[in-house]
Amino acid sequence: MTKPIRIIAGNWKMNSSPSEAVEYFIQIASLVQGQNKNQKQVIFPPTYCLNSDVKSAAEKAGFELGAQNVHWEEKGAFTAENSAAVLRKIGFNWTLIAHSERRQYFAETNETAAKRLKAALKSGMNVIFCIGETLSERESGKMFEVLKKQTLAALTIISESKPQEGQIFSIAYEPVWAIGTGKTATTAQAVEAHSFIRKTVSEILGSEFSQNLSILYGGSVTADNAKELLSQTEINGVLVGGASLKPEVFSKIIS
Ligand code: PGA
Repeated sequence: MTKPIRIIAGNWKMNSSPSEAVEYFIQIASLVQGQNKNQKQVIFPPTYCLNSDVKSAAEKAGFELGAQNVHWEEKGAFTAENSAAVLRKIGFNWTLIAHSERRQYFAETNETAAKRLKAALKSGMNVIFCIGETLSERESGKMFEVLKKQTLAALTIISESKPQEGQIFSIAYEPVWAIGTGKTATTAQAVEAHSFIRKTVSEILGSEFSQNLSILYGGSVTADNAKELLSQTEINGVLVGGASLKPEVFSKIIS
């Protein structure tokens, strides 16, 4: 049985222009020494940064690029959405799905997230599927119920069609109360949630699938707390927002 691949991902949200992105990769290339073959490094910039100039600068620095979302249809009358099939065709192989900001501000539901996941997997993209409870859900004792529902939305799709050979499906546990707030989950809280998610996956898809699944932690990850989080066997990577925007900070997390 192999170990889950480690994924260090940066979600730039609506920050950076294409030229700033190129500059970022030039800088970070000089800061990250040597490449770790067992680790994937992925940046999710705004869609307008997904072009060949940024891609080539990213590749030189050892990074792959991804979209922050994809639509469930390949094409059609869906203003402002992006097609997974087309992104994949033009060389962008990763996508986030159901980030909590999409759930909170743009009415993403477990149902629409599942549809997006299906399209992403069909296109051959690698996926980071985001889940996480709000503070009030945690405080009212609903955390496990919420995480289970969110996980099952993804697993229903995966049980219909497993990822292809070499295609990565991963889950990011991002407690909503920890995103952009400077409040990280404690290591124990993160491990508790990750173990629960892995158990849920194991019940539906079997232990081999769950043991190989990369589960990332996200929510106020910094250069100071990343090492401790990543030293837990349950935590197979991090999804980093604010701290991924500065090459000098993100390079520390990567190292
Ligand atoms: P943060 O964002 O690291 O700024 O908390 C994480 C995320 O939104 O993925």
